[in-house]
Amino acid sequence: VKQKVWVSRPLFPEVLAKLSEHLDVQAEAIERKHTPEQLRERLRQVDGAVIGLGDRVDAAVLEGNERLRVIANLAVGYNNFDLPAMTRAGVLACNTPDVLNETVADYAWALMLAASRRIGAAERWLRAGQWSNQQRFDDWLGVDVHGKTLGILGMGRIGQAIARRAAGFDMRVLYHNRSRLPEPIERECRATLVGKDELLKQADHLILVLPYSKASHHAIGAAELALMKRTAVLVNVARGGIVDEVALAAALREGRLGAAGLDVFEGEPAVHPDLLALDNALLSPHIASASEDTRRAMASLAADNVLAALGYGPHAGRPATPLNPEVMARWSRR
Ligand code: GLV
Ligand code: GLV
Repeated sequence: VKQKVWVSRPLFPEVLAKLSEHLDVQAEAIERKHTPEQLRERLRQVDGAVIGLGDRVDAAVLEGNERLRVIANLAVGYNNFDLPAMTRAGVLACNTPDVLNETVADYAWALMLAASRRIGAAERWLRAGQWSNQQRFDDWLGVDVHGKTLGILGMGRIGQAIARRAAGFDMRVLYHNRSRLPEPIERECRATLVGKDELLKQADHLILVLPYSKASHHAIGAAELALMKRTAVLVNVARGGIVDEVALAAALREGRLGAAGLDVFEGEPAVHPDLLALDNALLSPHIASASEDTRRAMASLAADNVLAALGYGPHAGRPATPLNPEVMARWSRR
């Protein structure tokens, strides 16, 4: 009898087919947020699961689950996982690093360019039929991206991919990170490590790509925004909770910050009304990794992780991107 896998959201047919070669697949046909009780119930009946960021896995959800071995997240960020609780429960956690680096970097640049040049607001204005012969030479003035200083907060692999693109725009690149990059990577990225305050003060464009945790909650709040240039453009492709949205909206409204490009929100899918009211905030629905190729690659990697963890496929027993591989050594003793 086949082992069972639960897929918590609709997924590409070819990925479900790949899982079905070896596993009994129970795939949700409708997109929705599951309650902790629903998650707990589903996860008790399976050996593995593929889930999304909306599904929060903690000790309570896993309590009493003797069967589950692996959960693959359809994301690189895994703030929806209580990783220590999963490790204690003997459940392997997997994410989707690397396959999305270049696609998310493209999107961070798209938001930076579009917010800097006011493309969202200009398009809304044109579609509203406002364009006329009265358009002035000094209407719609934005700020340049080329030749400016790019600041990157969080210099993992996505941050590095963002930095590498800056050479073509003749930008100076500064970054702040817990640890300094190895020198060859710094050189390749043409990026210089600075303190966080220095980064905030010097950046004409600041992109946030750090992981979300208690330590990074509201890492950008009123005090940090006050250090930034009045013309600066802030881009967030990481997690909404890294920014104090009320403080950000106030800075944008009062002209203490130039513009923002936001793909993530603290209460998503709800967006703070203060942000919705602003023309200089460019807002998108958490789609930075959503290219055709990359979303398929993420889903495929998640499926491969589940298959490998449960003993199937070319990498049986050796999932490619585990977060707590030490749990696998304990499985034989369960
Ligand atoms: C999306 O936000 C991800 O973490 O992959
Ligand atoms: C982005 O979501 C990251 O975790 O780096």
